[in-house]
Amino acid sequence: MNKHPLSNLISNQDLLKKIAEQFGTPLYVYSENRLKANISRLSTAIGNSFKNHQVYYAVKANSNIHIIATLKEALHNLGCDCSSPGELYAAKKSGIDLSKSVYTGNYESIEDLKTAYKSDCEINLDDINSLNRLETIGIPEYISFRLNPGKGHGRFKGIMTGGKDSKFGIPKEKITNAYKIAKKIGIKRFGLQCHAGSATLDIDTFREITKLVLDSAKDIEKCINQKLEKISIGSGFGIPYKDNETPLDLDLLFQKIQNIFYDYYGQDSSDWPTLCIEPGRILVADTGFILTRVTGKKSSYKNFIGLDAGMETLMRPALYGAFHRVQKIGKESNSTSTYDITGRICENTDRISENYNLPKIEEGDLCAIMDTGAYGYSMSHNFNTRPRPAEILINNENIKLIRKRESIEDLFSGCDV
Ligand code: LLP
Repeated sequence: MNKHPLSNLISNQDLLKKIAEQFGTPLYVYSENRLKANISRLSTAIGNSFKNHQVYYAVKANSNIHIIATLKEALHNLGCDCSSPGELYAAKKSGIDLSKSVYTGNYESIEDLKTAYKSDCEINLDDINSLNRLETIGIPEYISFRLNPGKGHGRFKGIMTGGKDSKFGIPKEKITNAYKIAKKIGIKRFGLQCHAGSATLDIDTFREITKLVLDSAKDIEKCINQKLEKISIGSGFGIPYKDNETPLDLDLLFQKIQNIFYDYYGQDSSDWPTLCIEPGRILVADTGFILTRVTGKKSSYKNFIGLDAGMETLMRPALYGAFHRVQKIGKESNSTSTYDITGRICENTDRISENYNLPKIEEGDLCAIMDTGAYGYSMSHNFNTRPRPAEILINNENIKLIRKRESIEDLFSGCDV
């Protein structure tokens, strides 16, 4: 069983009690040290195998500008992968150089494309029709297209982004034609991108996808008689959400990908296209947890624990059946009971966890919902007119509020018309 990277913080019950008093619950809590350690570990691993590489942080995982700025502090050359004008805004506000960033949209409006085009970032197009829309705005010097390699992966069906059922990318049978057209209308330089799924812990899956990407890259290069400058294998790098799961061995992962590049592009790595990755989850998921208080306890046909964090605070369990460990803060008794852990939302899908074993727990106790740094706050919402929580960043004893708790009045500010 692996020790959780935040186990020291979670066991510091005095600190967590103090924080809960000061900032209220539910509260998103992030560790600055862990954020920096994660990005350093990843950039070292890719750098050891690929001299030419670029890391684009996937802003959708967590768009808090203090989180992005912290990642950039540890990796100065960090770019961002953005998928909306709002994410471009977050990247820029965090101090990210947008000329080192990429916009990956899908079914974008002309307005979206205009914002991306003007922002100076690279544009990664999801379809030939996206190119037609872009052409009405301008012709960039460089673009990439997103490949759907006909195969996807991921922890749940809902987060597989490759394959026959996926709304993303261009099928491998059609992609060379897209480049031919792009070249004909005056685009000069090209890359290729593919993001086929998320939350995967198996290295062989990444090898398989990389081979499919490089198969297409070779077809494209032959078709347009020109080298691709960058290959992005997207992301999908998972983290262990459960005690019995093993983290990805990042050094081994990039060594394996390097071997594939040797096979396709030869021994001279200075001749290789730049390898790009767009990590979200692996950088931020295990850096954060939700500090939440038990607000109700009920014995019905099942036993329920009600928290002040529900599906509006963390969507993943209700949306995908995703699993997050829940830990009681403070002294744990040896005897446990089985509960469905829910929130206060008027939906029966409002579950954080089902059939979960917790030690003896009472109304007023604090709990931590683990590994919620990615796709936690960024997917939270206001159903039942619940304001969103605050977010804080902890660096040892140093605590910084990085987003204020929403007020009920905030939710209605747009109605002042
Ligand atoms: N690049 C692109 C183009 C993407 O669409 C995504 C995620 C990423 C990179 C980052 O992937 P990651 O490193 O996080 O695997 N809401 C879901 C995850 C959806 C991911 C969508 N795209 C969840 O809560 O698990």
